[in-house]
Order: sequence, then C-alpha cells, then structure tokens
Amino acid sequence: MEIHTNIPLKNFVTMRLGGNARFMTDVRSIDEIIAIIDRAAAQNLPFYILGGGSNTIVHDEGFDGIVIRNRIMGQEILSETPSEVSIRVGAGEQWDEFVKKTVDMRLTGIEALSGIPGTVGAAPVQNIGAYGQEVAETIVSLDAYDTQSKTLVSLSNDDCRFSYRNSIFRDTEMVRYIITFVTFRLYKSAPQPPFYEAVQRYLDEHTITIYTPQVIRDAVLAIRTDKLPDPKLKPNNGSFFKNAIIEDWQLTDLRETYPDIPTYNMPDGRYKVPTGWLIEQAGFKGKLLHGIRVHDKNALVLINESATSFADLASARDEIAGKIRDTFRILIEQEPLEI
Ligand code: EPU
Repeated sequence: MEIHTNIPLKNFVTMRLGGNARFMTDVRSIDEIIAIIDRAAAQNLPFYILGGGSNTIVHDEGFDGIVIRNRIMGQEILSETPSEVSIRVGAGEQWDEFVKKTVDMRLTGIEALSGIPGTVGAAPVQNIGAYGQEVAETIVSLDAYDTQSKTLVSLSNDDCRFSYRNSIFRDTEMVRYIITFVTFRLYKSAPQPPFYEAVQRYLDEHTITIYTPQVIRDAVLAIRTDKLPDPKLKPNNGSFFKNAIIEDWQLTDLRETYPDIPTYNMPDGRYKVPTGWLIEQAGFKGKLLHGIRVHDKNALVLINESATSFADLASARDEIAGKIRDTFRILIEQEPLEI
C-alpha cells in the first residue's frame, strides 16, 4: 500500500476546488483498511473515505489527515430464487457499471438509479435516489469495518437508518464505519408503473409499453443527459442542495403567496418542496455568482465555471441559501459532504 503526500484533492473531486490532502492512499482489501486505520490512530490523524468525489467538497486549507480511496472490488451472487437475486458488491466498484450489469441480467430494482456517478460504497452513505427509486429499497445489509470496536460488522438495512438523502454514515456515525461490501436484493419481475413523471413522459413519447429494466435505464440516461451537466466537462456535484422538507403549517402559509408551489407528500405527513423551484423563483437560475453558475436547466445544480477557491463556492452557496431563507423562510441544506 503506497501512501502519497500532499496531494491536490481538486483532482479527485468533481467540483475541482479545494486544497491538498496531507496523505492519500488506495485500499484494495480489508487488511489494508485495518493497517491504514491503525496507522492513522497511532499518528492521531483523522481519515476520510473518498469514493468518486462527486459528493465531497474540499476546503481551501485541504485535509490534514489521510484520505483513503476505497478500491475493494468484486461481485458475488449470494442466493437466487425464482423471483429474486441477492448480490454482494465491493464498495470500490463504479456504481453505474454495477447498475449496467444488473440491467444486462434483466434484474429490476436499481435501473432508475442509472447514470449516477460515484462508487457502490458511497451509494448508501447519502441513500442515492432518483426517478422514483432510492438505493435503501434494495439494500439488504452491508459489511463494514467498525473503527471504534476494531471489528468487522454486518449492518442490516434498519441499522443504517436510511431516510431521504441520509443514513447513519453521514449523520450520527460519521467516520465510524468503513463500508467494504454492500448486499442488494434485486427482482426478476419487470419494472412496474407508476413511473416518475419524466420517465413516463419519455416512455409515452417513444411509444414504449413493454417495461424492462433496460428501457427504464435508457429513459433515465436520456433525461439525465438533458438535465444534468457531465461532471467531466462541467465541474459539479449533481444536486448541490437537498430538496426542502416542510411541515403542514409552513405549506399552508406558503400557498397564500405561492399558490403554484410544487410539493410531494412524504410518508410521515410532511411535504417535500423542490429546492430547484425555490432557487428558480428567487431569480438565480442561469446566474453566475463568484464563478459558480446556477445551471440553466436545473437550478439545483451548481457548476464551477470560473471559481478558483472553495471560498468562492461557499459565497455562492450562502448567497443562494440566504435569499431562500429570507424569501420563503425555508432553510435549505447542502447535499455534498465537506472536508
Ligand atoms: N424544478 C424547477 N426549477 C428547477 C429545477 C426543478 O421548477 O430549476 C421543479 C421541476 O419542475 C419539478 C421539481 O422541481 O417540478 C422536481 O424536479 P426534478 O424532477 O428535476 O428533480 P429534482 O428535485 O431537481 C431530484 C434529485 C436528483 C434526481 C431527481 C430525479 C435531490 C436533491 N435531487 O432532483 O438527484 O436525479 O430528483 O429523481 O433529491 C442528486 O442528488 O445529485 C440528483 C441529481
């Protein structure tokens, strides 16, 4: 295991901003994870696990610790019945390559999560979700190294406490577990309507009435290409903010001024309001702030057009969030993790 010193993290995150990592290494096995964590503890250094860098933003001072890139690979079918398949996948595998493989196997469950950048191990951290699916719906369990007890553990879906764009891994148990493998349960049955509105529109436009994982994947990839900038060409983090979750009384208040406010019902009786809509209403769509462009096709996405520092990004973010707070009395939350 090679440990590199003073590595510019902007080359490893899709927003392409921020300072250096004091140390950086790739891990390919559980033994390597244990060795590097012991070393970090002995030197009293913090660590951070980096996947594809699409949901991490880096301060200008960089990270005074060890950045660990998880490269644990492998896929194994654990069990199969006439209706289901359980697959265990290494945390370092590319998420979309895994999705493609499951779609090629005609399995249903994660096809709407096509085209999401990043790794398999990062998917549960923020409970990736898109076009009507959340990864939490198909995760059975995951294996992790618990840096607190120094043991290998298996966490059930319930243990992970998944909710909208959240789990224990970015909340109460941040930097405790290092995810090594994720086990998914996928289905042999075809995808069932109702589909996400944009997906159904695509299917209708293409007169598709036979639903397979492949047609849903194709629809999602086409919609994403149209709405989301390619991070390889235009540095961005996908949605920079989470959608807002508001209470019943807040919605009643807001509807007096904004009768057309779009909302989605949450299972707990609250409402999700698209932050892209709020940002658009506040007049930011397409605008350039401190070198950061508010995407003209989806105001939830911030593109680093000419920003030179994390400070530029933070100024743009704070300006947008401040105006949303003053206009709608809603506090919006950033989606990427910050180191
Ligand atoms: N909207 C606007 N203006 C905008 C953007 C959106 O009015 O600039 C409105 C749309 O008209 C629509 C609603 O907001 O009524 C929702 O828009 P959309 O379906 O495009 O989805 P989103 O809420 O912007 C979320 C996820 C995306 C995911 C899509 C599709 C979050 C934070 N984002 O975006 O995830 O792909 O739904 O399911 O939940 C990501 O997390 O990086 C990401 C791209």
